[in-house]
Amino acid sequence: MCGIVGYIGSNEKKEILINGLKELEYRGYDSAGIAVLSAGELKTFRAVGKICNLENKCADFISKGFGIGIGHTRWATHGKPTEINAHPQIAHFSNVVHNGIIENYQEIKKDLEQKGHCFLSQTDTEVIVRLFEEFLKDTEDGFEAFRQTIATLRGAYAILLISVKYPDKIFYAKNGSPLIIAKGNDGVYFGSSDACVIGYADKVVYLKDGDVGCMDIHSFESLENIRPLEQNKAFAQKDGFRYFMEKEIYEQHKVLLETMMGRVNEDGVALESVPDGFFEGVDELIICACGTSYHAGMSGKYVLERIAKIRTNVVMASEFRYANSVMRKSEIFIVISQSGETADTLEALKLAKANGLKTLAICNVDNSSIVRESDAVILTRAGIEKGVASTKAFATQMMVLWMLGVYIATQKNLLNKNDLENQFTSMVRSVKATEVSPKLHERLKRLSKRYLHGHGFFFIGRDVFYPLALEGALKLKEVSYLHAEGYPSGEMKHGPIALADSLLFTIALVPRHLLGDKIKSNVEELSARDSTICVISSEEVETADDMVYIDPAQDYMEEFFSMMVALQLLALEVAIKLGNDVDMPRNLAKSVTVE
Ligand code: AGP
Repeated sequence: MCGIVGYIGSNEKKEILINGLKELEYRGYDSAGIAVLSAGELKTFRAVGKICNLENKCADFISKGFGIGIGHTRWATHGKPTEINAHPQIAHFSNVVHNGIIENYQEIKKDLEQKGHCFLSQTDTEVIVRLFEEFLKDTEDGFEAFRQTIATLRGAYAILLISVKYPDKIFYAKNGSPLIIAKGNDGVYFGSSDACVIGYADKVVYLKDGDVGCMDIHSFESLENIRPLEQNKAFAQKDGFRYFMEKEIYEQHKVLLETMMGRVNEDGVALESVPDGFFEGVDELIICACGTSYHAGMSGKYVLERIAKIRTNVVMASEFRYANSVMRKSEIFIVISQSGETADTLEALKLAKANGLKTLAICNVDNSSIVRESDAVILTRAGIEKGVASTKAFATQMMVLWMLGVYIATQKNLLNKNDLENQFTSMVRSVKATEVSPKLHERLKRLSKRYLHGHGFFFIGRDVFYPLALEGALKLKEVSYLHAEGYPSGEMKHGPIALADSLLFTIALVPRHLLGDKIKSNVEELSARDSTICVISSEEVETADDMVYIDPAQDYMEEFFSMMVALQLLALEVAIKLGNDVDMPRNLAKSVTVE
């Protein structure tokens, strides 16, 4: 997730902007930049990598006297992490910083190019500042030009724009991405979160979607909903949640929209980062990953084979590396990785490349080793994932695999217009299903105290819900240190049911729209042997000891995403009850860069 800062006042602006960006580093980034307009001079500094690189670039610059400034940390979604793609993005006499995705940027860009604009970057953001200067050709009113600019955009954004023509104003707009305005004794501040204005300001306004405005040193008091600013930085970085893992579970419904934005609508899927013809002549997909990413791949297999009718084989990277697997050039090797640095996955990727396979990375970090090694990439756009136990990365990986299934099916003319509309509406419903219901969370908080002991957990499911059961078990293991295993529910009777007794906890995923009756009979088999059973479903299962209800859904993919949230929250609440460090569980690392 990108980070944005802004300042209007007479203090030294570079320091305020850089310090603000440092407070936003937790959001993750791969480049950074600032722009300061003071005494009629607009200075812009940008650097790839960490903020210290930016500090080195502007080490000799000091901004005295009244002025305005904006800053940005970029998490690449369109265009590689390079200096030219870093923000602020610049036009002739204006600069802009932006967090989010402009869905219709290509049509805007084409129109502006026809009007003579020469774009310098690969970003969607650059269209904003060029559009602003284009509208200024017809009006002297800067806010009117800015308002028209914003009205032209479709997508998610938090925007700050400054221009030499308006040296005391910062233009701002908020829609879908966070943006606050704050006031202190020494000026007016902007930020993506409280964290970057704490210590400078004591009053704050949390902008709402659709807010568009123009701020100067005097106009803060005219804003509505001014409130005191919370002064606890750690609290602010977690946006008020207890752990990053909890925050990341709650933001899944937002980041999934970014995963989809500009890529899927009722007409189908467009993956601009995948070269045309990439899947031509391909008769099989090999998906290779580790841990949670492997579970996403396993779930993706069902979706890809069902929608795109393409044979999909899922392999664990650590096994694949040494198995001397048979590889064919008609296969595409797909690696899934949140960090893009997992050693087993990276080495497996290199092995596939050495055997002449085309490679595709589904990854969350654009400048990572795995992305650089792959022929093509589809970024998951989950933003930084701080919690070691992966949650939103899994959700976005699954959404990308689903989109890929529709994309390949379209290439193979397997879906008609109605099918495409149905897939899109199902995706949109599934995203909505990840919005955490307070009632569900409260239920899991209360239930978790009953599942703190016992000699272990089975998580059972069928079809796409079997890898989800594996993922639920991994989540619980990682953060609670209790033993748990995921199992195909149809396999319990082939041995594991010997473990069934009242101290064996079974979490059963019982969807209404896919093999629900089969799983119910597996639940009955376990219940008859006195296993303690918790069923996650939209419908009551009488033999369950505990029921966790999800909202009724229209299809099994919506149920998949609903149950995913319930499993994540269950693991979170059990771990909290046990007093564990949820965000940094013992023995684990966020990125396993060694064998
Ligand atoms: C997931 O909760 C774990 N942290 C772990 O299994 C992780 O998914 C695995 O190490 C793979 O990491 P990657 O997605 O960054 O490649």
